[in-house]
Amino acid sequence: MTSDVITFPPDLIDRLRTAHHVVVSTGAGVSQESGIPTFRDSLDGLWEIFDPEQLATLEAFQRQPDLVWGWYEFRRAQVNKCQPNPAHLAIAALAGKVRRLTVITQNVDNLHERAGSKDVIHLHGSLHDPICTYCGQSYTLLAGEPEVGETGGRMPPPKCPSCGGMIRPGIVWFGEMLPEEELERAQAAALHCDVFFSVGTSVVVYPAAALPFIAAEQGACVVQVNTDPTGLDAYASYLLVGKAGEVLPALIAAI
Ligand code: OAD
Repeated sequence: MTSDVITFPPDLIDRLRTAHHVVVSTGAGVSQESGIPTFRDSLDGLWEIFDPEQLATLEAFQRQPDLVWGWYEFRRAQVNKCQPNPAHLAIAALAGKVRRLTVITQNVDNLHERAGSKDVIHLHGSLHDPICTYCGQSYTLLAGEPEVGETGGRMPPPKCPSCGGMIRPGIVWFGEMLPEEELERAQAAALHCDVFFSVGTSVVVYPAAALPFIAAEQGACVVQVNTDPTGLDAYASYLLVGKAGEVLPALIAAI
């Protein structure tokens, strides 16, 4: 599919032009065209290659902090080498085309921000903002800092300059609560929007996966952009099947 041959239902374009509040909620698929692997792709999905029990739980970090810190630093180095793709840029441009836009992401990269989106709600935390396990102080790691091998490798987590506690990745791990304020803002946006886009997510990890259903339930127009089917298919008003980096620029151009 190429962007010059994509056409959209006129009703959808009208809904976007007249919408008071548009929400775009993204998952790993939006960053796939930047070269960042998704989680559940059958060939190179991260959770097909790596065991989340060994890397994405608090117990794993307590058991093997060097392994877990090294893996997240490897992923952060990977993100730093990647650029926002046309999907991130189209979502940033959408802010100038609709009355109000809220961007929510499950992604822990910073590609929406680097594309120009503001106030992005990060439901699953960020690779770039680790926190002290003892005093809770948050830090921002800058591009170019990590020095890890191509496949990751063990790396001792740094110590907190304030209290000496061990610093952990600023990621929401399995079994942990989502950041309360971000989740509340995301739920409120789903509850009050006119149009809700679910882009590049398999819609399987809750509570993020509940957001499009909250929007559909309250009567919003729910649009899915995905290369493959998901559990949302039967509930979405429109299914835009294709790569986010091709579908979204064409859609934004049509508004
Ligand atoms: P998944 O890997 O589960 O799903 C990615 C989705 O993107 C799939 O539905 C693909 O079909 C779709 N996709 C792939 N490439 C695409 C493209 N170029 N354009 C459009 N769609 C594309 O990723 P998530 O749904 O984001 O949590 O996974 C949710 C959470 O599971 C993640 O945030 C992560 C993981 O455990 C944490 O790390 C806390």
